Amino acid sequence: MTKSSNQMWGGRFAAGPDAIMEAINASIGFDKRLAPQDIAGSRAHAAMLAAQGIISDKDAEAIREGLLTILSEIEGGNFTFSTALEDIHMNVEARLKEIVGEPAGRLHTARSRNDQVAVDFRLWVRDQCDAVDGALEALMKALLAQAEAGADWVMPGFTHLQTAQPVTWGHHMLAYVEMFARDRSRFADARKRMNESPLGAAALAGTSFPIDRHATATALGFDRPTANSLDSVSDRDFALEFLAAASICAMHLSRFAEELVIWSSAQFRFVTMSDKWSTGSSIMPQKRNPDAAELIRAKIGRIFGANVALMTVMKGLPLTYSKDMQEDKEQVFDAADNFLLALAAMAGMVSDMTANRASLKAAASSGFSTATDLADWLVRELNLPFRDAHHVTGSLVAMAEGKGCDLPDLSLEDMQSVHKEIHADVFDVLGVENSVASRLSYGGTSPVRVREQVARWKEVLA
Ligand code: ARG
Repeated sequence: MTKSSNQMWGGRFAAGPDAIMEAINASIGFDKRLAPQDIAGSRAHAAMLAAQGIISDKDAEAIREGLLTILSEIEGGNFTFSTALEDIHMNVEARLKEIVGEPAGRLHTARSRNDQVAVDFRLWVRDQCDAVDGALEALMKALLAQAEAGADWVMPGFTHLQTAQPVTWGHHMLAYVEMFARDRSRFADARKRMNESPLGAAALAGTSFPIDRHATATALGFDRPTANSLDSVSDRDFALEFLAAASICAMHLSRFAEELVIWSSAQFRFVTMSDKWSTGSSIMPQKRNPDAAELIRAKIGRIFGANVALMTVMKGLPLTYSKDMQEDKEQVFDAADNFLLALAAMAGMVSDMTANRASLKAAASSGFSTATDLADWLVRELNLPFRDAHHVTGSLVAMAEGKGCDLPDLSLEDMQSVHKEIHADVFDVLGVENSVASRLSYGGTSPVRVREQVARWKEVLA
Protein backbone atom coordinates (compact mmCIF):
# COMPACT_ATOMS: atom_id res chain seq x y z
CA MET A 1 0.00 0.00 0.00
CA THR A 2 1.35 3.42 -0.87
CA LYS A 3 1.45 6.13 1.70
CA SER A 4 -1.07 8.91 1.23
CA SER A 5 0.16 12.18 -0.22
CA ASN A 6 1.09 15.25 1.80
CA GLN A 7 -1.91 16.98 3.39
CA MET A 8 -0.40 20.44 2.81
CA TRP A 9 0.72 20.27 -0.80
CA GLY A 10 -0.28 16.82 -1.98
CA GLY A 11 -3.23 17.78 -4.19
CA ARG A 12 -1.55 16.72 -7.39
CA PHE A 13 0.17 13.64 -5.95
CA ALA A 14 -1.33 10.17 -5.99
CA ALA A 15 1.26 8.61 -3.69
CA GLY A 16 3.35 9.68 -0.74
CA PRO A 17 7.13 9.93 -0.62
CA ASP A 18 9.60 7.11 -0.25
CA ALA A 19 10.78 6.74 3.34
CA ILE A 20 14.28 7.86 2.36
CA MET A 21 12.85 10.83 0.49
CA GLU A 22 10.99 11.77 3.64
CA ALA A 23 14.19 11.49 5.65
CA ILE A 24 16.28 13.65 3.34
CA ASN A 25 13.50 16.17 2.82
CA ALA A 26 12.46 16.77 6.42
CA SER A 27 13.91 19.60 8.44
CA ILE A 28 11.66 19.30 11.49
CA GLY A 29 14.45 17.52 13.42
CA PHE A 30 16.29 20.82 13.65
CA ASP A 31 13.98 23.64 12.55
CA LYS A 32 11.63 22.94 15.47
CA ARG A 33 13.94 25.40 17.15
CA LEU A 34 12.32 28.12 15.09
CA ALA A 35 8.88 27.48 16.62
CA PRO A 36 8.72 30.72 18.67
CA GLN A 37 9.78 32.79 15.66
CA ASP A 38 7.43 30.90 13.34
CA ILE A 39 4.50 31.50 15.67
CA ALA A 40 5.37 35.18 16.13
CA GLY A 41 5.55 35.60 12.34
CA SER A 42 2.24 33.82 11.80
CA ARG A 43 0.49 35.84 14.50
CA ALA A 44 1.68 39.09 12.92
CA HIS A 45 0.62 37.85 9.48
CA ALA A 46 -2.87 36.85 10.67
CA ALA A 47 -3.42 40.20 12.41
CA MET A 48 -2.37 42.03 9.25
CA LEU A 49 -4.63 39.88 7.02
CA ALA A 50 -7.59 40.83 9.21
CA ALA A 51 -6.67 44.51 9.39
CA GLN A 52 -6.53 44.55 5.59
CA GLY A 53 -9.92 42.81 5.30
CA ILE A 54 -8.34 39.74 3.67
CA ILE A 55 -9.64 37.40 6.37
CA SER A 56 -12.28 38.05 9.01
CA ASP A 57 -11.45 39.34 12.46
CA LYS A 58 -13.08 36.26 13.89
CA ASP A 59 -10.85 33.91 11.91
CA ALA A 60 -7.75 35.95 12.76
CA GLU A 61 -8.66 35.82 16.45
CA ALA A 62 -9.08 32.04 16.33
CA ILE A 63 -5.77 31.64 14.48
CA ARG A 64 -3.86 33.91 16.86
CA GLU A 65 -5.26 32.18 19.95
CA GLY A 66 -4.64 28.75 18.48
CA LEU A 67 -1.03 29.68 17.75
CA LEU A 68 -0.53 30.68 21.38
CA THR A 69 -1.90 27.32 22.47
CA ILE A 70 0.60 25.61 20.16
CA LEU A 71 3.44 27.69 21.56
CA SER A 72 2.62 26.61 25.08
CA GLU A 73 2.30 22.99 23.95
CA ILE A 74 5.76 23.17 22.38
CA GLU A 75 7.29 24.95 25.34
CA GLY A 76 5.73 22.43 27.70
CA GLY A 77 7.05 19.51 25.66
CA ASN A 78 3.49 18.43 24.81
CA PHE A 79 3.71 18.72 21.05
CA THR A 80 4.21 15.79 18.72
CA PHE A 81 6.44 16.74 15.82
CA SER A 82 5.89 14.78 12.65
CA THR A 83 8.52 14.04 10.02
CA ALA A 84 5.80 13.50 7.45
CA LEU A 85 4.92 17.16 7.90
CA GLU A 86 8.48 18.05 6.90
CA ASP A 87 9.18 21.23 8.77
CA ILE A 88 8.14 23.53 11.59
CA HIS A 89 5.89 25.58 9.34
CA MET A 90 3.68 22.67 8.34
CA ASN A 91 3.80 21.05 11.75
CA VAL A 92 2.40 24.21 13.31
CA GLU A 93 -0.22 24.71 10.62
CA ALA A 94 -1.41 21.11 10.81
CA ARG A 95 -1.80 21.37 14.57
CA LEU A 96 -3.58 24.69 14.16
CA LYS A 97 -6.13 22.94 11.97
CA GLU A 98 -6.74 20.37 14.69
CA ILE A 99 -7.28 23.12 17.24
CA VAL A 100 -9.26 25.77 15.35
CA GLY A 101 -10.54 23.93 12.28
CA GLU A 102 -11.32 25.70 9.02
CA PRO A 103 -9.84 29.17 9.78
CA ALA A 104 -6.38 27.53 10.01
CA GLY A 105 -6.47 27.04 6.26
CA ARG A 106 -6.73 30.82 5.75
CA LEU A 107 -3.47 31.63 7.53
CA HIS A 108 -1.35 30.82 4.52
CA THR A 109 -3.11 33.41 2.33
CA ALA A 110 -0.61 35.77 0.69
CA ARG A 111 2.30 33.85 2.14
CA SER A 112 4.65 31.03 1.22
CA ARG A 113 7.00 28.89 3.25
CA ASN A 114 9.73 30.73 1.39
CA ASP A 115 9.08 34.09 3.03
CA GLN A 116 7.99 32.33 6.20
CA VAL A 117 11.31 30.55 6.71
CA ALA A 118 13.19 33.70 5.71
CA VAL A 119 11.43 35.74 8.38
CA ASP A 120 11.75 33.01 11.04
CA PHE A 121 15.45 32.58 10.47
CA ARG A 122 16.13 36.32 10.44
CA LEU A 123 14.34 36.69 13.75
CA TRP A 124 16.39 33.84 15.18
CA VAL A 125 19.74 35.16 13.96
CA ARG A 126 18.79 38.64 15.17
CA ASP A 127 18.23 37.21 18.67
CA GLN A 128 21.66 35.60 18.50
CA CYS A 129 23.24 38.96 17.68
CA ASP A 130 21.67 40.33 20.85
CA ALA A 131 22.86 37.38 22.92
CA VAL A 132 26.39 37.74 21.52
CA ASP A 133 26.34 41.44 22.32
CA GLY A 134 25.60 40.70 25.97
CA ALA A 135 28.20 37.93 26.12
CA LEU A 136 30.88 40.15 24.62
CA GLU A 137 30.06 42.91 27.05
CA ALA A 138 30.50 40.50 29.97
CA LEU A 139 33.81 39.29 28.57
CA MET A 140 35.06 42.84 28.06
CA LYS A 141 34.15 43.71 31.64
CA ALA A 142 36.08 40.71 32.93
CA LEU A 143 39.13 41.74 30.92
CA LEU A 144 38.78 45.31 32.09
CA ALA A 145 38.77 44.23 35.74
CA GLN A 146 42.02 42.33 35.10
CA ALA A 147 43.47 45.38 33.35
CA GLU A 148 42.57 47.69 36.18
CA ALA A 149 44.05 45.42 38.84
CA GLY A 150 47.28 44.94 36.92
CA ALA A 151 47.70 48.27 35.12
CA ASP A 152 51.36 48.43 36.24
CA TRP A 153 52.28 44.76 36.52
CA VAL A 154 55.24 44.15 34.27
CA MET A 155 55.32 41.15 31.95
CA PRO A 156 57.26 40.27 28.84
CA GLY A 157 55.81 41.42 25.56
CA PHE A 158 56.50 38.95 22.76
CA THR A 159 57.07 38.93 19.04
CA HIS A 160 57.64 35.52 17.44
CA LEU A 161 56.92 34.26 20.99
CA GLN A 162 60.41 35.51 21.83
CA THR A 163 60.84 38.08 24.58
CA ALA A 164 60.64 41.48 22.90
CA GLN A 165 60.07 44.36 25.35
CA PRO A 166 58.51 44.63 28.77
CA VAL A 167 54.81 45.52 28.70
CA THR A 168 52.13 45.74 31.34
CA TRP A 169 49.52 43.12 32.18
CA GLY A 170 46.84 45.79 31.92
CA HIS A 171 48.00 46.68 28.43
CA HIS A 172 47.82 43.06 27.32
CA MET A 173 44.31 42.64 28.73
CA LEU A 174 43.18 45.84 27.03
CA ALA A 175 44.49 44.60 23.69
CA TYR A 176 41.71 42.00 23.83
CA VAL A 177 39.17 44.56 24.98
CA GLU A 178 39.91 46.44 21.75
CA MET A 179 39.48 43.29 19.65
CA PHE A 180 36.24 42.25 21.30
CA ALA A 181 34.88 45.79 21.00
CA ARG A 182 35.45 45.67 17.24
CA ASP A 183 33.80 42.24 17.16
CA ARG A 184 30.84 43.67 19.02
CA SER A 185 30.47 46.45 16.50
CA ARG A 186 30.58 43.92 13.65
CA PHE A 187 27.56 42.14 15.15
CA ALA A 188 25.80 45.47 15.65
CA ASP A 189 26.40 46.38 11.98
CA ALA A 190 25.17 43.00 10.79
CA ARG A 191 22.09 43.28 12.99
CA LYS A 192 21.22 46.65 11.50
CA ARG A 193 21.49 45.31 7.96
CA MET A 194 19.48 42.14 8.64
CA ASN A 195 16.68 43.98 10.40
CA GLU A 196 14.32 44.09 7.41
CA SER A 197 11.26 41.91 7.12
CA PRO A 198 10.99 39.48 4.20
CA LEU A 199 7.44 38.53 5.21
CA GLY A 200 5.01 39.22 2.35
CA ALA A 201 7.52 38.46 -0.38
CA ALA A 202 5.42 35.28 -0.64
CA ALA A 203 6.87 32.55 -2.86
CA LEU A 204 9.13 34.92 -4.80
CA ALA A 205 7.09 37.53 -6.67
CA GLY A 206 5.01 39.23 -3.99
CA THR A 207 1.25 38.78 -3.88
CA SER A 208 -1.93 40.09 -5.46
CA PHE A 209 -3.58 40.43 -2.04
CA PRO A 210 -3.59 43.97 -0.56
CA ILE A 211 -1.20 43.13 2.28
CA ASP A 212 0.55 45.66 4.51
CA ARG A 213 4.17 44.63 4.79
CA HIS A 214 5.04 47.70 6.83
CA ALA A 215 2.58 46.60 9.51
CA THR A 216 4.04 43.09 9.83
CA ALA A 217 7.57 44.51 9.76
CA THR A 218 6.73 46.83 12.66
CA ALA A 219 4.92 44.11 14.60
CA LEU A 220 8.00 41.92 14.43
CA GLY A 221 10.44 44.66 15.42
CA PHE A 222 11.97 45.14 11.98
CA ASP A 223 12.99 48.58 10.78
CA ARG A 224 11.21 48.17 7.43
CA PRO A 225 10.15 45.52 4.92
CA THR A 226 12.72 44.25 2.40
CA ALA A 227 12.38 46.01 -0.95
CA ASN A 228 12.73 43.14 -3.43
CA SER A 229 10.71 39.97 -3.16
CA LEU A 230 13.18 37.86 -5.15
CA ASP A 231 16.06 38.90 -2.92
CA SER A 232 13.92 38.43 0.20
CA VAL A 233 13.37 34.72 -0.25
CA SER A 234 16.70 33.82 -1.79
CA ASP A 235 19.52 35.35 0.20
CA ARG A 236 21.01 34.15 3.44
CA ASP A 237 23.68 36.82 3.67
CA PHE A 238 22.35 37.83 7.10
CA ALA A 239 23.26 34.39 8.42
CA LEU A 240 26.60 34.54 6.63
CA GLU A 241 27.36 37.92 8.17
CA PHE A 242 26.62 36.43 11.56
CA LEU A 243 28.97 33.53 10.85
CA ALA A 244 31.65 35.81 9.44
CA ALA A 245 31.53 38.09 12.47
CA ALA A 246 31.50 35.01 14.70
CA SER A 247 34.50 33.57 12.85
CA ILE A 248 36.58 36.70 13.37
CA CYS A 249 35.58 36.92 17.02
CA ALA A 250 36.21 33.20 17.45
CA MET A 251 39.68 33.70 16.01
CA HIS A 252 40.31 36.30 18.72
CA LEU A 253 38.97 33.94 21.36
CA SER A 254 41.19 31.18 20.08
CA ARG A 255 44.34 33.30 20.18
CA PHE A 256 43.62 34.29 23.76
CA ALA A 257 42.80 30.69 24.66
CA GLU A 258 46.17 29.68 23.22
CA GLU A 259 47.90 32.30 25.36
CA LEU A 260 46.11 31.03 28.45
CA VAL A 261 47.22 27.48 27.69
CA ILE A 262 50.82 28.66 27.40
CA TRP A 263 50.63 31.01 30.37
CA SER A 264 49.20 28.41 32.71
CA SER A 265 51.97 25.88 31.94
CA ALA A 266 54.61 25.05 34.56
CA GLN A 267 57.22 26.60 32.28
CA PHE A 268 55.49 29.99 32.22
CA ARG A 269 53.36 30.20 35.36
CA PHE A 270 52.02 33.59 34.28
CA VAL A 271 48.51 32.72 35.40
CA THR A 272 46.78 30.29 37.69
CA MET A 273 43.39 29.16 36.48
CA SER A 274 40.84 28.77 39.20
CA ASP A 275 39.67 25.27 40.12
CA LYS A 276 36.37 26.11 38.50
CA TRP A 277 38.01 26.22 35.07
CA SER A 278 40.62 23.48 35.38
CA THR A 279 40.55 19.71 35.33
CA GLY A 280 42.78 17.03 36.78
CA SER A 281 44.30 13.94 35.26
CA SER A 282 43.15 10.45 36.17
CA ILE A 283 46.75 9.19 36.26
CA MET A 284 49.01 12.18 36.99
CA PRO A 285 48.03 13.61 40.36
CA GLN A 286 49.96 16.85 39.91
CA LYS A 287 48.06 17.88 36.79
CA ARG A 288 45.91 20.91 36.45
CA ASN A 289 44.81 21.15 32.87
CA PRO A 290 43.40 24.25 31.17
CA ASP A 291 40.65 22.26 29.43
CA ALA A 292 38.25 25.16 29.06
CA ALA A 293 40.85 27.19 27.18
CA GLU A 294 41.70 24.21 24.99
CA LEU A 295 38.05 23.57 24.18
CA ILE A 296 37.51 27.20 23.28
CA ARG A 297 40.53 26.97 20.99
CA ALA A 298 39.06 23.86 19.39
CA LYS A 299 35.40 24.82 19.14
CA ILE A 300 36.34 27.63 16.84
CA GLY A 301 36.76 25.01 14.11
CA ARG A 302 33.01 24.48 14.00
CA ILE A 303 32.38 28.16 13.55
CA PHE A 304 34.85 28.51 10.69
CA GLY A 305 33.39 25.31 9.26
CA ALA A 306 29.83 26.59 9.39
CA ASN A 307 30.88 29.75 7.60
CA VAL A 308 32.53 27.80 4.79
CA ALA A 309 29.67 25.30 4.64
CA LEU A 310 26.96 27.92 4.22
CA MET A 311 29.01 29.92 1.71
CA THR A 312 29.36 26.71 -0.27
CA VAL A 313 25.67 25.88 -0.05
CA MET A 314 24.76 29.31 -1.37
CA LYS A 315 27.38 29.97 -3.98
CA GLY A 316 25.86 28.16 -6.96
CA LEU A 317 22.17 28.77 -6.42
CA PRO A 318 20.22 30.54 -9.14
CA LEU A 319 17.55 32.91 -7.83
CA THR A 320 15.32 32.40 -6.03
CA TYR A 321 14.67 29.74 -3.38
CA SER A 322 16.13 26.26 -3.75
CA LYS A 323 15.80 23.48 -1.23
CA ASP A 324 19.56 23.59 -0.75
CA MET A 325 18.83 26.54 1.50
CA GLN A 326 17.26 24.29 4.09
CA GLU A 327 20.85 23.30 4.89
CA ASP A 328 21.49 26.78 6.31
CA LYS A 329 20.01 26.19 9.74
CA GLU A 330 21.92 23.35 11.37
CA GLN A 331 25.25 25.02 10.62
CA VAL A 332 24.16 28.32 12.10
CA PHE A 333 22.48 26.71 15.14
CA ASP A 334 25.58 24.69 15.96
CA ALA A 335 27.95 27.60 15.41
CA ALA A 336 25.85 29.99 17.49
CA ASP A 337 25.46 27.52 20.37
CA ASN A 338 29.15 26.77 20.56
CA PHE A 339 30.16 30.37 20.05
CA LEU A 340 27.99 31.57 22.93
CA LEU A 341 29.31 28.76 25.09
CA ALA A 342 32.90 29.71 24.27
CA LEU A 343 32.23 33.38 25.04
CA ALA A 344 30.68 32.53 28.39
CA ALA A 345 33.50 30.14 29.30
CA MET A 346 36.12 32.72 28.39
CA ALA A 347 34.43 35.40 30.50
CA GLY A 348 34.28 33.01 33.46
CA MET A 349 37.89 31.93 33.07
CA VAL A 350 39.14 35.50 32.82
CA SER A 351 37.15 36.63 35.86
CA ASP A 352 38.46 33.80 37.98
CA MET A 353 42.10 33.58 36.89
CA THR A 354 44.97 34.96 38.95
CA ALA A 355 47.98 36.59 37.35
CA ASN A 356 51.22 35.62 39.09
CA ARG A 357 52.80 39.01 39.40
CA ALA A 358 56.21 37.74 40.50
CA SER A 359 56.50 35.26 37.61
CA LEU A 360 55.43 37.91 35.14
CA LYS A 361 58.08 40.29 36.41
CA ALA A 362 60.82 37.65 36.53
CA ALA A 363 60.06 36.67 32.95
CA ALA A 364 60.00 40.32 31.89
CA SER A 365 63.41 40.85 33.45
CA SER A 366 65.07 38.05 31.51
CA GLY A 367 65.76 37.62 27.83
CA PHE A 368 67.43 41.04 27.42
CA SER A 369 63.99 42.61 27.30
CA THR A 370 65.37 46.13 27.86
CA ALA A 371 67.84 46.01 24.97
CA THR A 372 65.71 48.52 23.03
CA ASP A 373 65.74 50.83 26.05
CA LEU A 374 69.54 50.64 26.05
CA ALA A 375 69.72 51.44 22.34
CA ASP A 376 67.29 54.35 22.78
CA TRP A 377 69.46 55.64 25.68
CA LEU A 378 72.55 55.58 23.46
CA VAL A 379 70.64 57.64 20.88
CA ARG A 380 69.29 60.09 23.43
CA GLU A 381 72.32 60.51 25.71
CA LEU A 382 75.28 59.90 23.42
CA ASN A 383 73.65 61.13 20.21
CA LEU A 384 74.46 57.91 18.35
CA PRO A 385 72.54 57.20 15.14
CA PHE A 386 69.96 54.49 15.96
CA ARG A 387 71.63 51.93 13.69
CA ASP A 388 74.96 52.37 15.53
CA ALA A 389 73.18 52.22 18.88
CA HIS A 390 71.51 48.99 17.75
CA HIS A 391 74.93 47.54 16.92
CA VAL A 392 76.54 48.58 20.23
CA THR A 393 73.58 47.12 22.12
CA GLY A 394 73.86 43.92 20.14
CA SER A 395 77.50 43.57 21.22
CA LEU A 396 76.51 44.11 24.85
CA VAL A 397 73.77 41.48 24.58
CA ALA A 398 76.31 39.04 23.15
CA MET A 399 78.67 39.86 26.00
CA ALA A 400 75.96 39.28 28.63
CA GLU A 401 74.96 36.07 26.93
CA GLY A 402 78.59 34.92 27.06
CA LYS A 403 78.77 35.68 30.75
CA GLY A 404 75.42 33.99 31.38
CA CYS A 405 73.90 37.15 32.84
CA ASP A 406 71.37 39.79 31.82
CA LEU A 407 72.01 43.36 30.70
CA PRO A 408 71.65 45.08 34.09
CA ASP A 409 74.21 42.61 35.52
CA LEU A 410 77.04 43.87 33.30
CA SER A 411 79.50 46.22 35.01
CA LEU A 412 80.10 49.76 33.82
CA GLU A 413 83.61 48.67 32.74
CA ASP A 414 82.08 45.88 30.63
CA MET A 415 79.86 48.45 28.99
CA GLN A 416 82.63 50.95 28.41
CA SER A 417 84.74 48.27 26.77
CA VAL A 418 82.14 48.30 23.99
CA HIS A 419 81.52 52.05 23.93
CA LYS A 420 83.73 54.27 26.08
CA GLU A 421 81.20 57.10 26.56
CA ILE A 422 78.60 54.95 28.32
CA HIS A 423 78.16 56.19 31.91
CA ALA A 424 76.40 55.00 35.05
CA ASP A 425 73.01 56.61 34.22
CA VAL A 426 72.51 53.81 31.73
CA PHE A 427 71.46 51.47 34.53
CA ASP A 428 68.32 53.55 35.08
CA VAL A 429 66.85 52.42 31.77
CA LEU A 430 67.77 48.77 32.15
CA GLY A 431 65.11 48.04 34.77
CA VAL A 432 61.78 46.75 33.48
CA GLU A 433 59.65 49.11 35.60
CA ASN A 434 61.43 52.11 34.14
CA SER A 435 61.16 50.62 30.70
CA VAL A 436 57.35 50.36 30.76
CA ALA A 437 57.00 53.71 32.55
CA SER A 438 58.86 55.36 29.68
CA ARG A 439 56.47 54.05 26.99
CA LEU A 440 54.24 57.07 27.25
CA SER A 441 53.33 57.50 23.59
CA TYR A 442 49.57 57.39 22.92
CA GLY A 443 48.50 53.74 22.94
CA GLY A 444 51.75 52.76 24.65
CA THR A 445 52.20 50.34 27.53
CA SER A 446 53.05 52.83 30.29
CA PRO A 447 50.80 52.38 33.36
CA VAL A 448 49.81 56.03 32.95
CA ARG A 449 48.41 55.34 29.49
CA VAL A 450 46.89 52.03 30.55
CA ARG A 451 44.99 53.70 33.39
CA GLU A 452 43.66 56.32 30.96
CA GLN A 453 42.38 53.54 28.70
CA VAL A 454 40.88 51.67 31.64
CA ALA A 455 38.98 54.82 32.58
CA ARG A 456 37.78 55.27 29.00
CA TRP A 457 36.54 51.67 28.75
CA LYS A 458 34.85 51.89 32.13
CA GLU A 459 32.84 54.78 30.82
CA VAL A 460 32.01 52.99 27.57
CA LEU A 461 30.90 49.85 29.41
CA ALA A 462 29.10 51.63 32.28
N1 ARG B 1 11.96 23.74 5.39
C1 ARG B 1 12.19 24.67 4.34
C2 ARG B 1 13.55 25.37 4.58
O1 ARG B 1 14.03 25.29 5.66
C3 ARG B 1 11.11 25.69 4.34
C4 ARG B 1 10.90 26.34 3.01
C5 ARG B 1 10.35 25.34 2.03
N2 ARG B 1 9.99 25.93 0.81
C6 ARG B 1 9.79 25.22 -0.28
N3 ARG B 1 9.47 25.86 -1.35
N4 ARG B 1 9.90 23.92 -0.29
O2 ARG B 1 14.11 25.95 3.68
